[in-house]
Amino acid sequence: MVRVLFIGDIVGRLGRATIKEILPSLKKRRKIDLCIANGENLAGGRGLTKETVEEVISYGVDLFTGGDHTFWRKDFVNHITDLPVLRCANLLSEYPGYGFIRKTVGKRSFLVISLLGTASTFIKEKAKNPFVFMEGFLKELADNKTSVLVDFHAEATSEKVALGWFLDGRVAALVGTHTHVPTTDVRILPKGTAFVTDLGMTGSSEGVLGVKREIILERFLGDSRRNFEWVEKGRSVFNSVLVEVDEKTGKSRSIERVDRTIEE
Ligand SMILES: [Fe+2]
Ligand SMILES: [Fe+2]
Repeated sequence: MVRVLFIGDIVGRLGRATIKEILPSLKKRRKIDLCIANGENLAGGRGLTKETVEEVISYGVDLFTGGDHTFWRKDFVNHITDLPVLRCANLLSEYPGYGFIRKTVGKRSFLVISLLGTASTFIKEKAKNPFVFMEGFLKELADNKTSVLVDFHAEATSEKVALGWFLDGRVAALVGTHTHVPTTDVRILPKGTAFVTDLGMTGSSEGVLGVKREIILERFLGDSRRNFEWVEKGRSVFNSVLVEVDEKTGKSRSIERVDRTIEE
């Protein structure tokens, strides 16, 4: 059995500190073989830097998946190809970096792919239809010895649930990210795909999706355009799921939520 941990969007400094506190012992205790985290909010709440990627690798994350904020920091285009960081594979605009990568764990070959949703009012980055894209991608891959792991970074729960059904039996796991709110619908779909609508996030539980709550409340109450600031201390959450993939069949056998809270 190969044990893969998927961690929800790591948000800012407090998110990184939460990974540092929880991940090393969790990896040992639960015998994690591969640790994948969504990295789009790693640096100060939006985007990534070389330094923050290297910091979180030192805590045990093997690979970062992408999102609508991967290239929020302009300088990151100069680093992405040198780091274990994916951007979304189906972006419409030309960006450097890779949308998928192969990883071998034990006897099993994995392909991790990052995908962006299109059914959203909040995501500004434009992407190709993820259903059509995956259909073509899997046809071209034409390899039943590889287990495909998908991070589907999308807003609409319907789009995520639908893509799960569409890919059931064709990928080993599809986990949703982006909303920063964990969902409890972990399940193995009938043909062997591990699925969850959203992993959640890793970072402050006291703001709104990681951002200081007073700023977000001002926006909802009026027309404030105050810049976002992220909560850097206090209570935090670690949201993830653990998937067991059968080394022989390449299908998933189990999926469970692994969530932790660190009180101040
Ligand atoms: Fe995010
Ligand atoms: Fe996002």
